[in-house]
Amino acid sequence: MQSKLLKLNKEKSKGLPARRDFLKKAGLGAVALGLSQFGCRGQRAEGPVITDFEEVQGFEEEPEVHDPSYGWEPVSDRRIRVGVVGIFGATFGFQDHPNVELVGISDLIPERRDRLAEATRCKKTYASLEDMVKDDSIEAIFIGTDAPSHARHTLEVLRHGKHAAVAVPAIFGELEDAGRLVEEVKRSGLKYMMFETSNYRANLFAMHRIYNARGFGKLVYTEGEYYHYFGEPYPSYKDWRVGLPPQWYPTHSNAYYIGATNGHFTEVSCLGLPSIVPHLQAENNIYKNPFGTEIAMFRTGEGGMARMAVSWDTPGFGVETGRCRGQRGSFTETYQGLEKELPGISRPPLPPGVRPGGHGGSHGHLTNEFILSILEDRDPWIDINMSLNMTVPGLIAHKSALKGGEWMKIPRYV
Ligand SMILES: NC(=O)c1ccc[n+]([C@@H]2O[C@H](COP(=O)([O-])OP(=O)(O)OC[C@H]3O[C@@H](n4cnc5c(N)ncnc54)[C@H](O)[C@@H]3O)[C@@H](O)[C@H]2O)c1
Repeated sequence: MQSKLLKLNKEKSKGLPARRDFLKKAGLGAVALGLSQFGCRGQRAEGPVITDFEEVQGFEEEPEVHDPSYGWEPVSDRRIRVGVVGIFGATFGFQDHPNVELVGISDLIPERRDRLAEATRCKKTYASLEDMVKDDSIEAIFIGTDAPSHARHTLEVLRHGKHAAVAVPAIFGELEDAGRLVEEVKRSGLKYMMFETSNYRANLFAMHRIYNARGFGKLVYTEGEYYHYFGEPYPSYKDWRVGLPPQWYPTHSNAYYIGATNGHFTEVSCLGLPSIVPHLQAENNIYKNPFGTEIAMFRTGEGGMARMAVSWDTPGFGVETGRCRGQRGSFTETYQGLEKELPGISRPPLPPGVRPGGHGGSHGHLTNEFILSILEDRDPWIDINMSLNMTVPGLIAHKSALKGGEWMKIPRYV
């Protein structure tokens, strides 16, 4: 384990080209690039298995003990014309969804573009997202670009009349972008969905179903955590992950309250400890961020408490998970409560051929939910309000940490 981590960190520290060389040397194809760089474990059904990365971090894939398509029924035979931008988009299975016609793909970096095209079996490529949005035949775009570009790219997609799905976070550092997104989603009447992978992890999805069935009552206390050691900055487009303020990437942890309840936070006090990791020291990053770990205590909209942790500078196990304690029951690995009758807590069936995939078997479900929301003309589960109620509190939490834990109010998106 240790040697594999060291090997991976060594490769990462050399930057993007080195990472590609490594993947080539390891004999991994395009699908492998799409998965391995995000710490996802290898797919089982088809394609190469990424054995080199299997022990890295806690980004486990859900064991497929059941057929994920069991009980699936089509809602339509319509095929939505989709474009995918950014190499990360290879891992969400758009190319395998029976209600999708994958029209084209794009990445600014030609080699990544080629690999994305190969992984998605898509021949049509565009030089950039800005080029792709001009294609009037495309109805929806998945935006898997660098986090600092998410808000701008989402606005670009919506303003060109296309539904938008976007990787996390919804906004990056600029609070004003939240208002711009709300306006544009409302004005356009188009679908917006943030692909928060935690929402479709088995434990969070179960918590969401139990909460809605009042199995918890009010949540008194919730914990969420995203632990991912970045002793070296992870190579990213224009180095956006160098010195990244932990709570600017808050959605994997906040999802354990916001995703489970579709609620909101009202205020926050957040603490940090100046980091010993060089890129997480204020003088070494463009964010002037001194912290590698930020622990936020939130007051929830229903009056309870939530502790949300994001940590980049604590070596040890990595994980994205959470748990909760409610007035009528609690959830750690399983539900323990007063209610005898529980709703079905497993995730919905997927169309045959769409694999649950990475990040705890969440990828295929996110894609399916986005496509279903278009077919059924309804808001997706992780709509603009839920996305901002997950993302914005992190921005405020970071401000609080910079002020020694001062309590700060959080806006609500409804
Ligand atoms: N669990 C999760 O939900 C999860 C995991 C990993 C990454 N992510 C998110 O996914 C996104 C992508 O992650 P990454 O590691 O690939 O980031 P990255 O910075 O390595 O890559 C971003 C890619 O976007 C491309 N790009 C940027 N602007 C573009 C444009 N105008 N047109 C076409 N392509 C453009 C770049 O060429 C680059 O290849 C990030 O926002 C990250 O936050 C989410």
